[in-house]
Amino acid sequence: CTPRYVIGIETSCDDTGAAVVDYHGNIIGEALNSQTRIHVEMGGIIPIIARDLHKQNITNVVDEAIKNAKLSYQDIEAIAVTTEPGLALSLFIGVNHAKMLARKYRKPVIPIHHMEAHALTVRMVERVEFPYLVLLVSGGHCLLALAQDVNKFLLLGRSLDDSPGDAFDKTARQMKLKNLKECAGLSGGAAVELMAKTGNPKSFQFPGVLSQNRDCNFSFSGLKFHAKSLILQEELKQGIDGGNVLPNVGDICASFQDGIVKHLVHRIRRGLLYTELKQLLSEENKTLVVSGGVASNMYIRQEIEKLCQHFNCRLVCPPPKLCTDNGIMIAWNGIEKLKREIDLVQVNDFDEIDLK
Ligand code: KG4
Ligand code: ZN
Repeated sequence: CTPRYVIGIETSCDDTGAAVVDYHGNIIGEALNSQTRIHVEMGGIIPIIARDLHKQNITNVVDEAIKNAKLSYQDIEAIAVTTEPGLALSLFIGVNHAKMLARKYRKPVIPIHHMEAHALTVRMVERVEFPYLVLLVSGGHCLLALAQDVNKFLLLGRSLDDSPGDAFDKTARQMKLKNLKECAGLSGGAAVELMAKTGNPKSFQFPGVLSQNRDCNFSFSGLKFHAKSLILQEELKQGIDGGNVLPNVGDICASFQDGIVKHLVHRIRRGLLYTELKQLLSEENKTLVVSGGVASNMYIRQEIEKLCQHFNCRLVCPPPKLCTDNGIMIAWNGIEKLKREIDLVQVNDFDEIDLK
């Protein structure tokens, strides 16, 4: 039988991404234009600038994915595109482009929820059956959900304030880690992980977070604030100023990282207990998927693994490349929907694809 392909288009935040994926989860062609560097220079994402950059790049990125796949648009079965959640101005560029292509080539459009796509990506590379628990931890996301089916998710918890990646990045900046040559070119989180290896996690006590809350929500602003005041206190005590880095930076990194891990583990434990109580996960096939940039932290993985062993639960982490925003996860989510024949919107019904 002829191979079946879906193209995925992602413009929900600061990456213009497109990819062609086949029915078996093979990545046939991909292209990505990241705006991160420009936004870092501007000190944050400015929606109008993000929109203009998506607009400038969308045609090239999508055409390039098709070209890399050595296919033409005629060979594509459907066009999957992120329709929510995200920056409305950015989403609009991707959705509009998808509709334009669909009209031109008479293909259906498959609307995709960005977070659901993140949660499903793992199934492209590993045998993971529904239902499973999924933790998304990155610079933009923090949530714990139960994936029950391709289009059925139960949100158990989310961050009430910052993302864990943001807490890592701001704390790394406060410690001026990028002035250390061993941290050059690393993200804030990777720099903290590296320096933490030289320190003792018991050096400083970080407060427990939401320990009385009987839900699975997260909060990182308290840990971030605690780290900030600890660093300022230590700098004052040791007479450090300017671009100099504290000599005990390893101990601070190790203790901060441990504080983050304890919070994550505590909330996942509650999630596992809840699903056990409600019998939402199969007893013999319990799986937790941890995805997102922060999931590349080996200390975090190791501590979550310990918890999983206790609950007789399998831990699966997709490769880092598939954890970040890209067209691949959107295309794969499209394939998953195509297989079930759900959510295919035909050209005549485009009014149904509304941005939420
Ligand atoms: O998923 P991701 O690559 O991109 C978005 O958030 O869009 O996540 C990036 C975040 C950054 O905040 C970065 O500091 C964090 O993931 N990160 C880490 C590590 N590597 C990247 N955090 C902790 N430990 C790491 N090894
Ligand atoms: Zn994302």
